[in-house]
Amino acid sequence: MPCRIAIDGPAGSGKTTVAKLLAKKLGFYYLDTGAMYRIVGLYLKNKNINENSIKEISEELKNLKIEFKKGQFYVNGKKVSDEIRTPEVGIYASKFASIPVVREFLTKIQREISLNENIVVEGRDIGTVVIPDAEVKIFLTASQEERAKRRYNELKNKGVQVGYQDILNEIILRDKQDSERDIAPLTKAEDAILIDSTNLSLEKIVNQIYGVVKEKCRL
Ligand code: DC
Repeated sequence: MPCRIAIDGPAGSGKTTVAKLLAKKLGFYYLDTGAMYRIVGLYLKNKNINENSIKEISEELKNLKIEFKKGQFYVNGKKVSDEIRTPEVGIYASKFASIPVVREFLTKIQREISLNENIVVEGRDIGTVVIPDAEVKIFLTASQEERAKRRYNELKNKGVQVGYQDILNEIILRDKQDSERDIAPLTKAEDAILIDSTNLSLEKIVNQIYGVVKEKCRL
């Protein structure tokens, strides 16, 4: 039986670090579904497509091939770089993420990748929509200020020039867009374990989830 771990939560909740560390500790695959929304966001932005042009979006998605090989995404055969990581692309990702055809397109690929795998999948709707029968479901959160602080430090360390207030504003806007959309909104699955990471070290959280996985997946 596969062991699929769904980790959902808002931007900056620590889910990426936790999911990556956990996957490494378990020797499982790791899938970042946010990166896939960022890929679509950047792709459509570069084509000057507006989020209201549903017909054009559907047409463009037919020309977009996203592959996942050895932990690396490829778009129409080209390796995806860090350019999808900017706050601006995050906003586009979040905007296009509210469009049903975009979600159907990516959900299908995400299900194919996770099918019968031992995998840690992180996102917003993994436990609710993508893999509702995941063996372990976690909903990770933290205060908006703490999340902005983390995102700010992360980008600063990467050499990206950003202001704290801009990051906080982006987080507030994205929380609103992600939780208020009609389709697959950011929400905790009823059977997900809620973890607030505001005052917890990410290592502690990884160990806590690791314990749950060992028990549920009988590893
Ligand atoms: O995890 P992230 O910040 O890189 O995600 C970027 C955006 O993609 C996020 O604001 C909402 C969207 N997203 C989504 O709607 N569903 C997912 N499973 C993952 C991300």
